[in-house]
Amino acid sequence: MKITFYGHSCFLLEIGSHRMIIDPFLTGNPEASIAAKDVRADHVLVTHGHEDHTCDVLEIAKANDATVIANYEIAEYFGAKGARSHGLNPGGGFSFPFGRVKLTIAHHSSSLNAGLNPVFLGSPCGIFIEAEGKRVYHAGDTALFMDMQLIGRAGLDVAMLPIGDNYTMGPEDALDALDFLKPKVAVPMHFNTWPPIAQDAAAFASAAAKRGHKVEVLKPGASLTL
Ligand code: NI
Ligand code: MN
Repeated sequence: MKITFYGHSCFLLEIGSHRMIIDPFLTGNPEASIAAKDVRADHVLVTHGHEDHTCDVLEIAKANDATVIANYEIAEYFGAKGARSHGLNPGGGFSFPFGRVKLTIAHHSSSLNAGLNPVFLGSPCGIFIEAEGKRVYHAGDTALFMDMQLIGRAGLDVAMLPIGDNYTMGPEDALDALDFLKPKVAVPMHFNTWPPIAQDAAAFASAAAKRGHKVEVLKPGASLTL
């Protein structure tokens, strides 16, 4: 399994011949290392409705005839716009051709077009993937929560965790998240895209190391192979 970071919370997972993109936010993202039109993927996984996680979902899904996997409301939303989609909800999993996807809880919100006419797109989620004997958790946007202990109980190979603060947990809570999840390696995300979420990821990695956790900071475009 190969995991490539594209900036913010966007990752490409390559599992066998399959390519899954999570939370595509490439258009308008100053940190993005690839353009939406250049993404090749057969599945698009989405944690919640906010634009910084969904803005390129439809373009990528349509251009690749890819299936959108997300909570029920997000799946129905993109389904109504012409994409293939498969809806799940927290606690529910399904075995796809590349592996099993299970949605987890996340403490956040999940609107699109926030303002006078927001569309509320169900519960925000995290994504748990089990494939090729590896277990991967993408936390989405979330606060710290005690149930992360349950997500980590079977053993995690990789956890992708927000550290930006302001909209999600910040570095201090992310350290506690590492204590709950105990992944073999964690990759920080959702930081430095804009000034309110500026963080020193290297300082987070060294604080994590002091607590016995391995953190690998990926620059946009960089990959991790499991
Ligand atoms: Ni969000
Ligand atoms: Mn976000």
